[in-house]
Amino acid sequence: MLIRILAKLSVVGVCCLLLNPAMAAGDPQAGQFVFSTCAGCHSSPGKTHVYPTYHVPRLGGQTGEYIKVALEAYRSGERDHPTMLANVADLGDTQIADLVAYLTQVDTRPQSPPVRGNVSAGRETAQRTGCAGCHGVDGKTPLLPAYPVLAGQHENYLAHTLHEYRDGSRRQAIMVGIAGGLSDRDIADLAAYYASLPPALDYVRYRQPR
Ligand code: HEC
Ligand code: HEC
Repeated sequence: MLIRILAKLSVVGVCCLLLNPAMAAGDPQAGQFVFSTCAGCHSSPGKTHVYPTYHVPRLGGQTGEYIKVALEAYRSGERDHPTMLANVADLGDTQIADLVAYLTQVDTRPQSPPVRGNVSAGRETAQRTGCAGCHGVDGKTPLLPAYPVLAGQHENYLAHTLHEYRDGSRRQAIMVGIAGGLSDRDIADLAAYYASLPPALDYVRYRQPR
């Protein structure tokens, strides 16, 4: 009986691996090696993008699917950012899968700078504008895994992205539509609120890769 259940489970396992090959194939150790070129920006406390100035986004705690979507969008130029393009232009699909495997297993977050904006106003704005429908009531349980976690992301990075969606320089249809209706005040408040939420980490304590 037990053997039959195990056999069934392994069939399910094989089918899921086949459905999601890029995710399944990732090798975290290979990913750690590739990430050594990224860590200087993404894991250094206080590291900012020079112009415009905002903190380089945290990757630890993000969903693997969204990391993959983002890297592919930089690589194809759909998400237009020369620095990130330079970093991912030569990455193959296997290296992206390896990076995802690594980034979803260790906490690569630098410490977050303190939140400056109006968190309670942001909470109200988030309720009014329905962000939770896709990003989760806690900002870290997105409706779909390819949607980003916002909880604990740097405040000025969140504000920067919302401005970019609003002015169309970051072109993603859903968010362009949503940000179009936000005022500067809404953006500042929303960024403060999401930055203030506890980050999404099943792996809060840093796990040294073996
Ligand atoms: C010179 C600094 C720098 C290096 C090196 C760098 N990045 Fe980035 N990365 C950035 C900046 C700045 C952004 C935000 C760009 C934007 O506004 O779209 C970013 C964005 C990202 C995002 C999207 C995050 C989000 O929340 O949308 C991912 C994923 C990412 N980088 C992964 C990597 C990986 C993997 C590498 C190494 C292969 C890497 N980065 C190397 C500066 C860097
Ligand atoms: C209908 C679903 C949906 C709703 C509602 C929604 N979002 Fe998004 N959001 C997305 C998707 C999908 C992305 C990824 C877009 C991309 O790849 O650029 C995203 C991306 C973002 C990002 C960029 C995160 C990063 O790491 O770069 C921010 C910030 C954001 N959303 C904030 C909000 C806020 C604030 C609200 C409410 C005003 C909101 N979103 C409502 C689906 C949604």
